[in-house]
Amino acid sequence: MAQSDFPPLKNNLILKAARGEPLDHVPIWIMRQAGRYLPEFQEVRSKHKFFSVCQTPALACEVTLQPLRRFDLDASIIFSDILVIPQAMGLTVEMVPGMGPVIPKPLNDPSDLARLVQPDVEKDLKYVGEAITLTRHKLEGKVPLIGFTGAPWTLMSYMIQGGGSSTMIKARAWLYKYPQDSHKLLQLITNVIVDYLVMQVKAGAQMLQIFESHADFLNDELFINYSYKYLKEISENVRKRLTEENIPEVPMTAFPKGATMNSLEMLSKSKTYEVLGLDWTVDPMEARKRLGPDVTLQGNLDPCALYASEEEIMNRGRDMVMKFGKTRYIANLGHGISPDTPIKSVEALIKGVHSV
Ligand code: CP3
Repeated sequence: MAQSDFPPLKNNLILKAARGEPLDHVPIWIMRQAGRYLPEFQEVRSKHKFFSVCQTPALACEVTLQPLRRFDLDASIIFSDILVIPQAMGLTVEMVPGMGPVIPKPLNDPSDLARLVQPDVEKDLKYVGEAITLTRHKLEGKVPLIGFTGAPWTLMSYMIQGGGSSTMIKARAWLYKYPQDSHKLLQLITNVIVDYLVMQVKAGAQMLQIFESHADFLNDELFINYSYKYLKEISENVRKRLTEENIPEVPMTAFPKGATMNSLEMLSKSKTYEVLGLDWTVDPMEARKRLGPDVTLQGNLDPCALYASEEEIMNRGRDMVMKFGKTRYIANLGHGISPDTPIKSVEALIKGVHSV
């Protein structure tokens, strides 16, 4: 599908911010903007299982558009989940209410790698591409559409741990017990991710975000060996593949949640990603100082700040823009929005950010 087949883009603020072009207004979108805090999302979820929504392009498109109908957001993100890759690689993933994702038969030791299959992304994850193409049409050029994936370490840790964990001990133990097999697994996942991201761009994704949500379990040594290595490879290979196929590159964001400032600095120096996502524990001024002027920063209001009064939220939104500065900045939360966030709080944040 050529980009020219889609309706022309009316708001390209986020793409300009990613490329470092000067802007009058700071763009904003919200991680998990399609989610349970919206009654219209709950309505869809009351009738369909989580992964059925992901796998049905008309439903994925509908919930992707829901926040855009309510809010003055500057980007959309395709509704899906990072765990569709472990599914395509042969693991069963269930979304258990109140618990989050569960993999009933996780990888216990390297002999379990034999259970994994090399997916044909164009076929096995075609439903994501179809959802993206449909959404690009239905968006009518209102805002850009972001495609995404989990990063290799984050997906590996789910595949081994079998679900969320406050320590990820089983997954981290692999890195010390089975370093070679850990690299083997990370490489397998990396290859799938590259195919998957290229497929998403072909389907119409205008920007890509890689969620390294479990960077907080890695010290600098582990980050270099088990995260950064593959994040770099993904960025390089996706761009190479797009160029080979005569498809224009799209800006890419890495969001290493909980990464140390040293790790963030390494990523920004490598210039492999146009945008770095920051979680809510990072100080905006320090990040600007340490990460330099050549990378766009995205984030990072504490999702819990949305429980403050509307006036305070507006002030915090404005203050965040002042601290990050208006160039090379994309406003967002520092992690996903919580399910019981008041709708009015989201409106207040967007208003505050856009008022600067
Ligand atoms: O609007 C959007 O941002 C796009 C949709 C999106 C979802 N998951 C939908 C979702 C995106 C970008 C993700 C990414 C994702 N999924 C990440 C990376 C971001 C992060 O949070 O660090 C991770 C780690 C996952 C895995 C995952 N999926 C978890 C841990 C959970 C449970 C969360 C919870 O609060 O229960 C999910 C479920 C999930 N993914 C929901 C949504 C809207 C809620 C589940 C539901 O509707 O029942």
